[in-house]
Amino acid sequence: MSYKKSYEDAVKELSLMLMYLTRVQDNNEFCPYRELSWKGYDFQLMDQLSQEDLIYQPRSRRGYDKYLYLTASGRQRAQELLEEYGLCDKALNERYEFRSIFPHEADQAADIENICFPPHEACTPAMMKDRIEKVPDLFLVAVDRATGQIAGFLNGIATNEYSFRDEFFSDASLHDPSGKNIMLLGLDVLPQHRGQGLAKEIVFQYLRREWEKGRKMLLLTCLKPKVKMYKRMGFRDQGIANSSWGGEQWHEMSYVLNI
Ligand SMILES: CC(C)(COP(=O)(O)OP(=O)(O)OC[C@H]1O[C@@H](n2cnc3c(N)ncnc32)[C@H](O)[C@@H]1OP(=O)(O)O)[C@@H](O)C(=O)NCCC(=O)NCCS
Repeated sequence: MSYKKSYEDAVKELSLMLMYLTRVQDNNEFCPYRELSWKGYDFQLMDQLSQEDLIYQPRSRRGYDKYLYLTASGRQRAQELLEEYGLCDKALNERYEFRSIFPHEADQAADIENICFPPHEACTPAMMKDRIEKVPDLFLVAVDRATGQIAGFLNGIATNEYSFRDEFFSDASLHDPSGKNIMLLGLDVLPQHRGQGLAKEIVFQYLRREWEKGRKMLLLTCLKPKVKMYKRMGFRDQGIANSSWGGEQWHEMSYVLNI
């Protein structure tokens, strides 16, 4: 006899998946790093998910807020459900391994940078190798488990400075291991791995890792067409950056992790 889900179970599971798929990354100085989803679900159902510790519903003096947070177990359960329902999130963590970079992967990273950025914006292979030698733990790579090759990565250096300057791109010796802030230097995903949420997952895992290390703030610069993408990931647009890298006009974006 084939097992059929009850209507209530299906609504609960589908709602949790929707909460996960429509989540945005919160950027609120007054609470630690989290993913939030706007409410539009049955109240009883949300209470049940709260009791099961899959979501958290913040309250203010006026009552419940209009958004909810996914807990770590809620996030994991949603990923399992997506897989169970045959939907495409495909638990990126199963397809990719997320970790710091190894020194022998420097050539791969330099090649990916050249594929992802035009020559006047790309970091040179020499700069990339220098960064990997000096600051491997501030790289986060996604490695395709099927091929063992890097599919994408994010990298940065730590500092106690609060504003981006172009020297961070070219001089990895500016890295201060005890720096409270991270200057992000590049987000790259190879074309064949794009469009499935990999960049978002890399950024998510990077933010969580650095939040756990007690970092305060992350800063990056990006061109105007990418401002919306980073805002959706929880970054704030601070306006035009003090950067003329590649002769372009850049926006400075910030993400506060801990205050
Ligand atoms: C930009 C890039 C990292 C996106 O990688 P990806 O894995 O395809 O991105 P995701 O699938 O995680 O998409 C995340 C979000 O960004 C948006 N997005 C993806 N590529 C985008 C692009 N080129 N321009 C604007 N927005 C983009 C997606 O629509 C998605 O939005 P959503 O949150 O509303 O769903 C990848 O295209 C790349 O490496 N490009 C070249 C290098 C580059 O531009 N890096 C970032 C500049 S600082």
